[in-house]
Amino acid sequence: MNDLFTPYTLKGLEMKNRIVMPPMCQYSVEAKDGIATDFHYQHYVSRAIGGAGFIIIEMTDVEADGRISDYDLGLWSDDQIPAIKRIVDACHQYGAKVGIQIAHAGRKAEDAEVPVAPSAIAFDENYKQPRALSTEEVKEMVEKFRKAVQRAIKAGVDAIEIHGAHGYLIHQFHSPLTNKRDDEYGQDLTKFGREVLRAAKEEMPADMPLMMRISAKEYVEDGYDIEESIEFAKKYQEAGVDIFDISSGGEGPIGAGGRPGTHAGYQVPLAREIKKALNVPVIAVGRLDEPTLANAVIGNEEADLIAVGRGMLGNPYWALEASKKLNKETEIPKQYADGFRR
Ligand SMILES: Cc1cc2nc3c(=O)[nH]c(=O)nc-3n(C[C@H](O)[C@H](O)[C@H](O)COP(=O)(O)O)c2cc1C
Repeated sequence: MNDLFTPYTLKGLEMKNRIVMPPMCQYSVEAKDGIATDFHYQHYVSRAIGGAGFIIIEMTDVEADGRISDYDLGLWSDDQIPAIKRIVDACHQYGAKVGIQIAHAGRKAEDAEVPVAPSAIAFDENYKQPRALSTEEVKEMVEKFRKAVQRAIKAGVDAIEIHGAHGYLIHQFHSPLTNKRDDEYGQDLTKFGREVLRAAKEEMPADMPLMMRISAKEYVEDGYDIEESIEFAKKYQEAGVDIFDISSGGEGPIGAGGRPGTHAGYQVPLAREIKKALNVPVIAVGRLDEPTLANAVIGNEEADLIAVGRGMLGNPYWALEASKKLNKETEIPKQYADGFRR
C-alpha cells in the first residue's frame, strides 16, 4: 500500500516521495526584470533540503504584461534562464525534482497598463478594464507559451506545469463567464488551452510529464462545477496532460456559496472526482498540512501526490517532520540528523 513516502514515477520523472511544494508567487523580483533572485534560490533550495520530493516553481510568466505584479518571475527572455537553472541544479543536488508553472495572468495582470483577456470584462471594479486579444494575438500568445516552455527546458526542469487555474488567462478562456468571443477561440472554449498544451508537448522530451493546474470548481454566481470541469479536463487530457493539479476558484468575486478553503482537505473531493472520471494521476492540494491527513489521501487512493503550500511556507522541513510524525523512513540530511532523531 502506498503512503506519503512511497516513491512515485511518472514517465521519466522519479520522485523519492509523494510530497509536492505547490507553486507560490513570492512577489520578490525587486528589479522587476523577471529574473529569480538569491531569495528565490534560498527559498526553493531550503525546501529541497527539507525533504520535498517535487518542487513546482511559482507562476512564471510568458510576457512582462502577463505578470500578476511586476515583482513576479518571467521566462520571456533568455536572460531569465540562468537564475532558474541555478535553482533547479541545486534542488537536484539535494534530491528534489523540479517543475515550473508557466502562466499568463490575463485580466488579473495588475501592473500591466492595459491587461489582455479573451473578452473585455474586468474582474471587478477594483481591477483594470482589460482589452480583448485579437484572433492573431491569441495565436501569438500560444507561441509565447511555447518559447517560455523551451526556456524552462533549457533551465533543466523535470516537468512543466501549465497554469489553467485561479482565473488566469487559460482559465479565462475556458470559462463561459469570461470568454464571450465569437471567433474560433470562443466557439470552442478549450481551443486556446489545448493549443498551449500541444505547443508545450512539442517542445518537451517525450518522457517529460506535462502537468496542468485547473480550478475544478468556480465560486462565482453561476460558475462552472465539477461536471463541467470533468468535460474540459478530458479535452486537455487528449491534448497531452499527464497529470492534473487540482485547485479551485479565483475567477471573480465569490458568490452566495461562501468562501472556500476553510476546511482541511477542502479540494480532495475534486481531485478524487477528476482522477476517477479520467483515470488520470492527480495532485491534491489545500489544507493538507496535517501529515496523517495527507498520508490518508495517498493511502485511500484519492490522489497520487499531495501538495502542501502554506504549511511549507511556514516550515521548510515539513516533509522531514512528517516522516518523524508518521514514523516513516526517509533520508535526512546528515547535518540535521540530530534534529529529527526518533
Ligand atoms: C503566497 C501564496 C502564493 C501562491 N501563488 C500561487 C501560484 O503562483 N500559482 C498557483 O497555482 N497557486 C498559487 N498559490 C496557491 C497554492 O499553490 C495552493 O494551491 C494553496 O495555497 C492551497 O494549498 P495550502 O492550503 O497547502 O496552502 C499561492 C498560495 C499562496 C499562499
